[in-house]
Amino acid sequence: MAEPLRVGLAGLGTVGAGVIRLVEANAALIARRAGRPIVVTTVSARDRRKKRSVDLAPYTWDDDMVILGERPDVDVVVELVGGADGPALACARATIEAGKAFVTANKAMIAHHGLELAGKAEAAKVALKFEAAVAGGIPVIKGLREGAAANAIERVYGILNGTCNYILSTMEDTGRDFADVLREAQAKGYAEADPAFDIEGTDAAHKLSILAAIAFGSRIDFPGVDTTGITRLKAADIAQADALGYVIRLIGMAEAGDGQLFQRVQPHLVPFDHPLAHVDGATNAVVAEGNFSGRLLFQGAGAGEGPTASAVVADLIDIARGEIGAPFSVPVAELEAMEPAATGHRQGRAYLRFMVADRPGVLAEITAAMRDAGVSIESLIQKGRAGDAGAVMVAMVTHEGPESAVAEAVRLLEGSDSLTEPPLVLQILGE
Ligand code: HSE
Repeated sequence: MAEPLRVGLAGLGTVGAGVIRLVEANAALIARRAGRPIVVTTVSARDRRKKRSVDLAPYTWDDDMVILGERPDVDVVVELVGGADGPALACARATIEAGKAFVTANKAMIAHHGLELAGKAEAAKVALKFEAAVAGGIPVIKGLREGAAANAIERVYGILNGTCNYILSTMEDTGRDFADVLREAQAKGYAEADPAFDIEGTDAAHKLSILAAIAFGSRIDFPGVDTTGITRLKAADIAQADALGYVIRLIGMAEAGDGQLFQRVQPHLVPFDHPLAHVDGATNAVVAEGNFSGRLLFQGAGAGEGPTASAVVADLIDIARGEIGAPFSVPVAELEAMEPAATGHRQGRAYLRFMVADRPGVLAEITAAMRDAGVSIESLIQKGRAGDAGAVMVAMVTHEGPESAVAEAVRLLEGSDSLTEPPLVLQILGE
């Protein structure tokens, strides 16, 4: 059998340990499929003395992860440290400059610096791979780059953050409150080091910007993702959505057309009969609509040791086979620079929730704003006083109409002393 592919592993947290365990446990089948063995030779992490769940005795330790790629016993560096900049980025640049392949699960770094790194990797003719950066164990990058490569894809959307999905589906099942369920998600190891990245939608936005580039052949535009997290959702919204026939899920949605790129991460109401309504816990799911394949649904574990390690090692197998290819499918110089799409003309139905003072005329004030903005109300519910002292909840669902009209209604109500907090507006996921 050919010479082994020798891996330098930077980062020995949950996923790093998983990569070591997977490469050891499945060594024989990986070697058969890759055409040669894949072996970890060298490891690096911040703290050498930290107790780990895997035995590091068989591996050389190197204190400096940045220069792992310069070692003669390393053919490819796997970076599992995280962070958009800092040591992870220095390691990526140094590895590629050393003419070695680079594999990462680091969505923040790829969202911010993917084009630079891909350009460098293409020039150096080395592989840059990041399957584990999007949707954990789901082979969605491969699915789009390879399986769906013959299709024009105009829309890609899905559930891209396991922590948020775990929180929302657990709140739905148990009625427990947000903070309590977040702590549980952190304890289970789903959440980012800074959980604000999860609950404010940033992590999903990182992943969406990468997916959009792969799906549409466009330049990554992370700042162009319109991002709203789940922090404003109340148990009452989830109960209200349920009464109306919906669950609430954090959805990342990207569409391309006429040189414009629409990218948005926002909690949506998802109808019970939509496949994404049945995606629970830390599971992720991605829908891509190909012009010949039709609707494709990719679903699986979006985080965790085994699934994420599986995606990392799939990239290593590709590299062992000699598969390089442009990291974003299309060479960086040929990726299309798309304008961020204007959203006002988008049509859809929306859920609006107001927390209001319980006094005469408030409902009339809200419905007048809807009328003046040209928003047609399909249903409206007012809940009696509960939870928030003195405030009552008014929730409504609109008929199909332009998003700009809903935005105008909200603008008309700005500064009203009838509202105890700004209105919450969520889109309803269509077919
Ligand atoms: N914090 C991420 C999530 C981990 O919850 O989905 C995987 O990227």
